[in-house]
Amino acid sequence: MIEQGKRFFIFGHRGAAGHAPENTLSSISAAERLGVDGVEVDVQLVQNKLLVFHDDTVDRMTDGTGLLSHFSFEGARSLRIAGGEKIPTLEEVFSTLSPNTVLNIELKGVETASGTAKFVAENLSSRFLVSSFHPEELRKFRSLAPKAAIGVLFEEKFDDGINLARELRAYSMHVSMKQLSREIVSRTHTEGYKLYVYTANEEDEIQYVYNLGADGVFSDYPERVIDILHTLGVN
Ligand code: G3P
Ligand code: MG
Repeated sequence: MIEQGKRFFIFGHRGAAGHAPENTLSSISAAERLGVDGVEVDVQLVQNKLLVFHDDTVDRMTDGTGLLSHFSFEGARSLRIAGGEKIPTLEEVFSTLSPNTVLNIELKGVETASGTAKFVAENLSSRFLVSSFHPEELRKFRSLAPKAAIGVLFEEKFDDGINLARELRAYSMHVSMKQLSREIVSRTHTEGYKLYVYTANEEDEIQYVYNLGADGVFSDYPERVIDILHTLGVN
């Protein structure tokens, strides 16, 4: 289980997406250099292998077109992201991280639970946090990884999120910046979960998340979070 203590936790979003193309090894390295506590990446299944990629289609991020799921693994790996990088595998991302950095694996694509559970089992570590918007992926993941830390991502009904967190014995709730409220912070804490907020990039947003008493934040610009906390004399 992640040991956070009272620290306000800083996740680089998709690595550090404000500094390098999202979900690439250079983005992961940028996040590390900036001093994050954890990095969040999105995973999708391509021919039974886990690739770190956000969108369903490759058009926005690569020199190719079409649905990622229609590519072979080799075909997906032959695509190039701006700057010439390949779409990384989950193993490559994990190898790039320093031993103390938490890796938040977001199960973005369907059928990613089994491969991720296997990956977590093979890389014994207390620094994984597995999250998803898909309840069924999280249920499958929990059945295969009874002790892993789970984060419940929710966009709409908070009560549904809390019910799922209870069912899955989750570690954390991950709420969108737009939905964040004092009530959500207090109910999440009353239920015994950490509350992490995505994605806060502007200073006033980061300040708001901190002031409301959340436990951490996802940001494309983690250095802004670090600066604010430094100014406040915390962490
Ligand atoms: O995991 C937090 C955040 O990444 C969820 O939204 O669309 O950026 O994957 P998205
Ligand atoms: Mg994500």
